[in-house]
Amino acid sequence: MDAGERVMGFTTIAFDAYGTLLDVHAAIARKGAVLGKNAEAVSRLWRAKQLEYAWVRTLSGRYADFEQVTEDALDFALRAHGVRDPVLKADLMVAYDRLDAYADVAPALRALKEKGFATSIFTNGTERMIQLAVEAAGIEALVDKIITVEPVGLFKTVPATYAHLVAESGVGQDEIVFVSSNRWDAAGASAFGLASVWCNRTKQPDEYRDLPPPIATIPGLEGLAA
Ligand code: LAC
Repeated sequence: MDAGERVMGFTTIAFDAYGTLLDVHAAIARKGAVLGKNAEAVSRLWRAKQLEYAWVRTLSGRYADFEQVTEDALDFALRAHGVRDPVLKADLMVAYDRLDAYADVAPALRALKEKGFATSIFTNGTERMIQLAVEAAGIEALVDKIITVEPVGLFKTVPATYAHLVAESGVGQDEIVFVSSNRWDAAGASAFGLASVWCNRTKQPDEYRDLPPPIATIPGLEGLAA
C-alpha cells in the first residue's frame, strides 16, 4: 500500500454479494427459457419479493434465512405468472447457488489484493449460498472473509448487521469501505456510520439523499482500486 492510500486509512473493502458481485438475473437467464417473454418480469419480481420478504421478516421479528426467503419469493413470482412447475423451480434454486459473477469482479478483487487491501463479502445470503457462489465464480482466492447476517438473525439495513460486519472484520470501523450496487444497502451502511461506495451498475437515479451520502459512486467495479 502506498502513502496516499495510507492517508485515506482504508485497509478493508467489503462487498455486498447479490447485485454487486453476483448477477441475480443469471439464474433465469440460464434456466428460465421456458418462461418465454415473461422471463425478465419473473426475474425482477423474484428479486423484488426476496428483498421485501427479508425486510418484512426483519421488521416483524420473524427471521428466516435468505435461502427460505429466496425460495418463497420464487414461489410467488412463478405463481404470479401462472406457472406451476416444480422442476423449473428446483432448477432455478440450484442455479441461484451458482450465479455468474459480473465480468469486472475478479479483476477488481485482484487489483485490490495487489494493492494490499483485505477483501470480504458482507451479505444477507447464507454462508452456504455464498460459499457455493464464490467457488462457482472462481474467486475464492480473492476473498479473504465471508461475513453473513445469519448470526445476527436480522437482515440489512438494521444497524446491528453493519455492526456485525465491523466486529467480524477485525479492524476499526474507519478502515472499512463497504461497496454495494444496492442503493438502499449503501444508505444503510452510511446511516450506520460506515464509508460506503455505491456501484451504480444499472444507471439508477440517486435516492436516500437526506442520509449520509456514499463517499463515491462508480459505474462498475473497474476503477475501484484506483
Ligand atoms: C446481499 C443482497 C441483499 O446482501 O444484495 O447480498
